[in-house]
Amino acid sequence: MSQNRAIELVENQEWLGKAGAALQPVIIGAFEEGGEMGQKLKNILHGTWLGHPLHPVITDIPVGAWSVAAALDSIELAGNSKYKKGADAAVVIGIAGAVGAAVTGLTDWTGTNGKKRKIGLLHGVLNLTGTALYATSLVLRNKKKTRNTGLALSMAGYGIVSLAAYLGGHLVFGEQIGVDHTATSEEYPKKFVPVLAESELPENSMKAVKAADIQVLLARKNGALFAIANTCSHLGGPLDEGELRDDLTVKCPWHGSVFSLKDGTVVNGPATEQQPQFEVRTQNGQIEVSLKSR
Ligand code: FES
Repeated sequence: MSQNRAIELVENQEWLGKAGAALQPVIIGAFEEGGEMGQKLKNILHGTWLGHPLHPVITDIPVGAWSVAAALDSIELAGNSKYKKGADAAVVIGIAGAVGAAVTGLTDWTGTNGKKRKIGLLHGVLNLTGTALYATSLVLRNKKKTRNTGLALSMAGYGIVSLAAYLGGHLVFGEQIGVDHTATSEEYPKKFVPVLAESELPENSMKAVKAADIQVLLARKNGALFAIANTCSHLGGPLDEGELRDDLTVKCPWHGSVFSLKDGTVVNGPATEQQPQFEVRTQNGQIEVSLKSR
């Protein structure tokens, strides 16, 4: 089966759509229930503080540890049990990392919909299945009589998490989740260019304008002008269709990321990368913008 056909097969699974639609509001609701603390926790788990998604950083732990375990288990199965303690320790480290990866991944998954949500859900289910196999393997490894069954379960777990990793890779490279959707700075105007007549941007309003080939969000609030990239760094949502807020922030209409108009920084995720910010000035009745160096 070709790679595209395999992904298509996942996308066509109705049960994944139904399960995702039922589960996602429960998780979002749990964060909302926690009020400000819930939002802070969500930001931490997304990686807003890191300026980079946290989930892919943590997934390296189980993938690395379980790869080591697979190599050491293979040596044991070939008749040399010198490294069996190391293999068992690697399984434990992998399970600890998998818990962190599950929590951060589930949080990121709340900002997906459509086929991304389906693929993300299957990615998570496979990882949970693989982790359960490793946990069972850990118990069986401790007894001589069941050790070989334990090793076999680890190998099965390794196969399943590898499949999950493939889907995770597709989410990033195919569906562009976790990718900075504003990362095209070479196309941003680095010298002032006129974008709009001053009279066309009343107080307390915002508008998307074109500067070179880039969409820029212009906003006028409290008598001041602000300009940041209009395409949301999370998944490319149009910020001009979002909410201009009194605290000089803008909320994305797609998944609710909040950015400061003053400097483009992320106030609330799921976005983790800040919006490019522009210097703004008025010349001869025109509003002009120029990229502020990032
Ligand atoms: S596109 Fe997801 S928060 Fe903006």
